[in-house]
Amino acid sequence: MNNFTFYSPTYFVFGKRTENEAGHYVKRFGGTKVLIHYGGGSVLRSGLLDRVKASLDKEGVPYVELGGVKPNPRSGLVYQGIDLCRKENVDFVLAVGGGSVIDSAKAIAAGVKYEGDFWDFFEGKPIEAALKVGTILTIAAAGSEGSGDSVITKEEGMYKRGAGSEHLRPVFSILNPELTQTLPAFQTACGAADIMAHVFERYFTNTKEVEITDRLCEAVLLTMVKEVPRVIEDPNNYDARANIMWAGMVAHNNLVGVGREQDWSSHSIEHELSALYDVAHGAGLAVIFPAWMTYVMHQNVNRFAQIAVRVWGCQMNFENPEETAKEGIKRLKNFFKSIGLPTNFEELGAKEEDIPKMVEKMQLGENGSCGQFVKLKAKDVEAIYRLAL
Ligand code: NZQ
Ligand code: ZN
Repeated sequence: MNNFTFYSPTYFVFGKRTENEAGHYVKRFGGTKVLIHYGGGSVLRSGLLDRVKASLDKEGVPYVELGGVKPNPRSGLVYQGIDLCRKENVDFVLAVGGGSVIDSAKAIAAGVKYEGDFWDFFEGKPIEAALKVGTILTIAAAGSEGSGDSVITKEEGMYKRGAGSEHLRPVFSILNPELTQTLPAFQTACGAADIMAHVFERYFTNTKEVEITDRLCEAVLLTMVKEVPRVIEDPNNYDARANIMWAGMVAHNNLVGVGREQDWSSHSIEHELSALYDVAHGAGLAVIFPAWMTYVMHQNVNRFAQIAVRVWGCQMNFENPEETAKEGIKRLKNFFKSIGLPTNFEELGAKEEDIPKMVEKMQLGENGSCGQFVKLKAKDVEAIYRLAL
């Protein structure tokens, strides 16, 4: 196991009707004027926004509002949010929605405290300060409620990039699984794929002797394999929703990833798909991950066989572990299919002729590669897109 530090100071409030405590927690964490940030309308339709406002009113906390965050959130609205916060002397950003709303809120929070262009942070400048952010989560997926990351798309050129900092960790996150019951089945499934992908990015590692985090990763995956079909079958299954919601947090606050090298190339490869076609991040991951696994499997066939046995219940073939590894990838693909996700370019609406463009736009590291498990060059990324056709 590698050396590590782990600091995850978010205060979680989990369970039924907890959104009614939003005002209390804003006050407790020092907010005196709030920007309520939300998406395209689901929080209006469900009545959640009204409940959050009532909770702030009850505590006497003033607020301004900014809605309209799109999935794959855009820089344009972040600039608007920064201006509004400055004009109104806002000191707390309350994100009410999914990963897109939370990420947009984080970008605003960092931008307000910075004199330059907030996009600098998404090109690598360290974030040194940010307004406090709280979240009320409405979809189990991105894990942004417990992470220090934000992913934003810049409209000029449609560049989708991430920034990370301890300053971006929400001070509190309210997780009420009831709020996820209004999700369309497809969004539930996309969220599930993202949660599982966050585990895979950590599971496939070259670090040795990481039994504890291997087992924690497997626990999250086994939970998803059991609970996701239950909510697809019955969207109102509170207990299954609750398990998935907490799994989404655990998958990405890095508890299951400390002390081990992590990969993250599939996320970079997917971000080009969602930037170009504006598809849901989780849908893109369902297409990319099986292709990536097939391409890099020979780096450590036994690790792929291990997950096949422990998570997918495959029989270990000791003479030919590659067969077991392949069977595991096949079962993952079938699982994605069974919950209504695309597993190839055509089903996603992506086009073969765009592959060179996506490869060219991809952000490769200093040595011209991405990922850690296998360091992928541009030609490898292209091969993975082609495997996903
Ligand atoms: O905009 P509204 O009307 O709210 O509709 C949303 C949106 O259309 C809808 N929705 C959310 N909660 C709902 C609901 N509809 C009905 N009932 C509810 N309870 O679902 C749609 C998707 O929402 P979005 O916020 O985009 O989903 P998600 O949480 O999957 O976030 C995706 C974004 O997060 C980024 C992705 O790249 C993508 O941009 N990620 C952020 C990460 C992070 N900050 O740590 C890590 C992830 O790997 C990911 O990259
Ligand atoms: Zn993700």
